[in-house]
Amino acid sequence: MSGSEIALAVDLLRSGRLVAFPTETVYGLGADAASVAAVRRLYAVKGRPAAHPVIVHLADRGAVERWACDVPPAARALADAFWPGPLTLLLRRRPDVDGILTGGRDTIGLRVPAHPVARELLVAFGRGIAAPSANRFGRVSPTTAAHVRADLGTDVDLVLDGGPSEDGIESTIVDLSGDRPVLLRPGSIPDDALAAALGLDRVDGPSGPSRAPGMLASHYAPEATIELVDDRAAAAERLEELRRAGRRAELLDPGPDAAAYAHGLYGWLRDADRRGTEVLVVVPPPPGGIGDAVRDRLRKAAAPRR
Ligand code: TXA
Ligand code: MG
Repeated sequence: MSGSEIALAVDLLRSGRLVAFPTETVYGLGADAASVAAVRRLYAVKGRPAAHPVIVHLADRGAVERWACDVPPAARALADAFWPGPLTLLLRRRPDVDGILTGGRDTIGLRVPAHPVARELLVAFGRGIAAPSANRFGRVSPTTAAHVRADLGTDVDLVLDGGPSEDGIESTIVDLSGDRPVLLRPGSIPDDALAAALGLDRVDGPSGPSRAPGMLASHYAPEATIELVDDRAAAAERLEELRRAGRRAELLDPGPDAAAYAHGLYGWLRDADRRGTEVLVVVPPPPGGIGDAVRDRLRKAAAPRR
């Protein structure tokens, strides 16, 4: 990444434009978090309903207090353990933070990403960057600059190309705004590592209706219908059955390496769509570690469309 590209990105952000940038999880579509007009443009381009909050990305944790108040000790523990990195914390938002960032909620999502290009951009910009994944609403997250361009075309003013996102799956989201930490979205951080950093036996998921809009719905879905089949032999049989019935069916069975699975997943789903696949029979990775996050995304991708 050249210094002049970062300088151009900073100029664009300062003038309210949108810049897509790589992170270690997925590519983000960035806007100046302090500019209501820029964030409005972000929602318009993404096609995202106003009730869905966006994550504010920070160069370092020193900026947390600019956005959040009543920050609990658990936030420091998690920041010590996982920032910079693939972790988003939901904290109580400061009263002066505009509700457009938070979907009108009283919490704000904050993350200090680790990707060198993201960090360079954040340091040079010197302020928070609001960024959802750089895809149109409800579509598969982009893990390369080419994915971003394919989705957003000229609606994005600049795409910084930092190569394929290493993790390939969106950040772990932990809600620290209530009495106890709640794991809202699993990511590449294993559950037991989260719990250990918090000094707990385990971190529970949400009880009752999801506190993060968009996470229970059939997001993360390609055009193809996804069928999950845990058993390989049964998956191969199902594939044959679909093909005999004249369906354009394919098998996705990347094997048990969950990190490699996460890294490749969104690209493979996009490829299947490009080939006009109707049904993708998918063998999920085994549970545990990042395998849990992949299984979570696959379940969502397989959920019936609304
Ligand atoms: O890895 C990631 O988290 C990527 C990179 C770019 O940082 N970003 C990302 O953003 O995946 P997005 O907007 O596609 O997904 C964030 C999720 C959404 O479901 C949103 O509703 C939820 O987090 N979220 C963000 N802030 C929230 C808040 N204050 N309260 C509840 N949910 C929130
Ligand atoms: Mg997203």
